[in-house]
Amino acid sequence: MAAALCCTSLQAAPQIKARTMASDAKARPMASDAEAAKRFKPNPPELPATMRAVVWRGDMDPAKMKIEELQMPRPKADEVLIKVRACGVCHTDLHVILGEVPFPKPGVLGHEVSGTVIELGEGADASLLGAKVMTTFIMPCAKCRFCKIGEEDTCEPFFTYNRGKGQLYDGSSRLKTVAGEDVAMYSMGGLAEYCVCPTTAVFKLPERLGENLFAESCVLGCMFFTAYGAVHNAARLKKGESVAVIGCGGVGSAVIQMAKAVGADPIIAVDLGEEKLNQAKKNGATLTVDASSDVPAEIAKLTNGHKVDVCFEVIGLKKTFENAVMSVRDGGRAAYIGIADVKVKAEVPITHLVRRRISLNGSYGARASTDTPEVVKLAENGQIDFVNPITRRFSLEEAAQAYRMLGNREILGRAIVEISKY
Ligand SMILES: NC(=O)c1ccc[n+]([C@@H]2O[C@H](COP(=O)([O-])OP(=O)(O)OC[C@H]3O[C@@H](n4cnc5c(N)ncnc54)[C@H](O)[C@@H]3O)[C@@H](O)[C@H]2O)c1
Ligand SMILES: [Zn+2]
Ligand SMILES: [Zn+2]
Repeated sequence: MAAALCCTSLQAAPQIKARTMASDAKARPMASDAEAAKRFKPNPPELPATMRAVVWRGDMDPAKMKIEELQMPRPKADEVLIKVRACGVCHTDLHVILGEVPFPKPGVLGHEVSGTVIELGEGADASLLGAKVMTTFIMPCAKCRFCKIGEEDTCEPFFTYNRGKGQLYDGSSRLKTVAGEDVAMYSMGGLAEYCVCPTTAVFKLPERLGENLFAESCVLGCMFFTAYGAVHNAARLKKGESVAVIGCGGVGSAVIQMAKAVGADPIIAVDLGEEKLNQAKKNGATLTVDASSDVPAEIAKLTNGHKVDVCFEVIGLKKTFENAVMSVRDGGRAAYIGIADVKVKAEVPITHLVRRRISLNGSYGARASTDTPEVVKLAENGQIDFVNPITRRFSLEEAAQAYRMLGNREILGRAIVEISKY
């Protein structure tokens, strides 16, 4: 499986002290020494000098993103190099492409990957070497005041360096063109053959997922991670509570699954058109409402006038934001996941919100260190079905097309980009 890791000629020695898969081959379970010898070549590793990545250069048409050769990224302290197996196609990347969420260009998008750790930066946990892993899109610094109190989802350096500048926490990107131009990383920059990720966002996959669902496991890193955070942290959803999910694409499908795992009932899916609503039913929705109708009124009808305990908004439009406030019962909670053009504002009826004790909770990802093990456990035990929502698979060459289709609402559930074969 790892033979191709060591396929080309020896490159310049790493600039930092790093341990590699080749140097620590014994950390991995091996069938025999002979097989190990076939798989690995001696230290230092023979990594290619360059890798292929989908680079966004600021064009608002996602289909114009092109594959470029970038210098092979190398991990620094507390980071690892991952050979990417697959990367999920998330609408947040599309917001960046469309200029709705500011981000420096050129950049490599893609922020939920599965892959194999092939090199360790200094101080990185040695047991990660050779492990099949998934990454969370929030990569906590582990040192700021928010991380220290467990609120990793508001990690300050993550927003300042990564979301603001496309960098990691030493104030530089690990990505460069062959000519030496800096290339921004959106999270780890997963739409590439290799990516560097801080170890705070890297989680080993249990054998069942690593062996059978390695590619699919990438969607645990944003789609299901985000759904977990919204259901458990923002909404604090309880068994038996009623739920509506407005926007049942990738993340919405995962919210439905997470709500089902908690025991919510009913689960009302709201989206546009029969195809999306039928898909939502396959993911566990018990009732559906077409979004072209008067959504709060339809939700009231379906709940004997009570409306729902919790409404999740998972698209990020003014109208759907406002509908979510009006779809919850008195004392209910609206949890907001959808990201919008940063200029978009919504209106809420102040007196209704105050007198009816409505809570509006923003929800961004989840808390990597505490929540990811729970997400992985739910996936391993089959309590969430993260395979059914994956309806399309693209190659790296087709990734740009995948984002164009996502923008045209032609993707049901989630698409993934499969980058390597193992
Ligand atoms: N808060 C977070 O941590 C976080 C994480 C990931 C994604 N997001 C955001 O969540 C949103 C959804 O992401 P995704 O990847 O699931 O996108 P997606 O494109 O897969 O899904 C969006 C869904 O909304 C539906 N939709 C469109 N207009 C609608 C309307 N008027 N009413 C109801 N449904 C409508 C679409 O048909 C589609 O099914 C995006 O804004 C994305 O940026 C937020
Ligand atoms: Zn995402
Ligand atoms: Zn932090």
